[in-house]
Amino acid sequence: MGFSGFALVGVVFSCLLVATSAGNFYQDFDITWGGNRARIFKGGQLLSLSLDRVSGSGFQSKNEYLFGRIDMQLKLVAGNSAGTVTAYYLSSQGPTHDEIDFEFLGNVSGDPYIVHTNVFTQGKGNREQQFYLWFDPTRNFHTYSIIWKAQHIIFLVDNIPIRVFKNAESIGVPFPKSQPMKIYSSLWNADDWATRGGLVKADWSKSPFTAYYRNFNVTSFKSTTSLSDAGLLTNELDAHGRRRLRWAQKYFMIYNYCTDLKRFPQGLPPECRRGRFL
Ligand SMILES: *[C@@H]1O[C@H](CO)[C@@H](O)[C@H](O)[C@H]1NC(C)=O
Ligand SMILES: *[C@@H]1O[C@H](CO)[C@@H](O)[C@H](O)[C@H]1NC(C)=O
Repeated sequence: MGFSGFALVGVVFSCLLVATSAGNFYQDFDITWGGNRARIFKGGQLLSLSLDRVSGSGFQSKNEYLFGRIDMQLKLVAGNSAGTVTAYYLSSQGPTHDEIDFEFLGNVSGDPYIVHTNVFTQGKGNREQQFYLWFDPTRNFHTYSIIWKAQHIIFLVDNIPIRVFKNAESIGVPFPKSQPMKIYSSLWNADDWATRGGLVKADWSKSPFTAYYRNFNVTSFKSTTSLSDAGLLTNELDAHGRRRLRWAQKYFMIYNYCTDLKRFPQGLPPECRRGRFL
């Protein structure tokens, strides 16, 4: 079969939508730690996590997903959030787990949060990209999304793609595609590294630190991976999406493992050499 025939079949079969749900925190999530530092309000429409001197808190989804789109609106810890990390991620279980991460690293009042992203496959990460945001994430709710398909993972902020991690199995890079993942979130103290590399500590006189969650929406995909030559299935972003991705990466990216030659003196990871490291 010629290239165009193959690509067409790929587009037709690449993704079938099976279920979408816009949710209720009571129904779809369990509070997993932190006791009453994690709370669900408004009949399940709003959730908050908090952190004090003694403990942080966290929750996880009841269901697990193999491919899907997850949207969540977060309003991050306001004021002096230095030393705090709010993590929102997908993860499977066990020592060879896969994981797709958003982590929000707090800062002193008026200084910017860092959005840290990473992708782990079979227990190995080391694929960080970090960004500043183009708004104050503590004033209002904003939507943070992960699109996870067999061909790629896309991180979005208010529907603007900030990062695409492509399936590069064809050049030997493992990709998360067989272990179902749950959705997790937690708020904890990471003042040994989070803010200016650990220079700025949490100010416990300002605690408890609180982050809010609402309007999560999970759309689970069932994906046929038999045609999974990712190289051929490159329909991830249209021209508009690619323009916005370039904008976010040009103006807001502050760290990219793919350009960190000091860290990889033996040579950059193979996925970084595939044309542009999207
Ligand atoms: C949930 O997400 C899906 C897929 O992006 C979208 O079609 C649907 O309108 C969303 N539902 C809500 C309630 O936001
Ligand atoms: C906090 O603010 C400082 C100074 O503007 C900045 O260098 C740093 O990247 C910001 N974010 C974090 C999480 O440290």
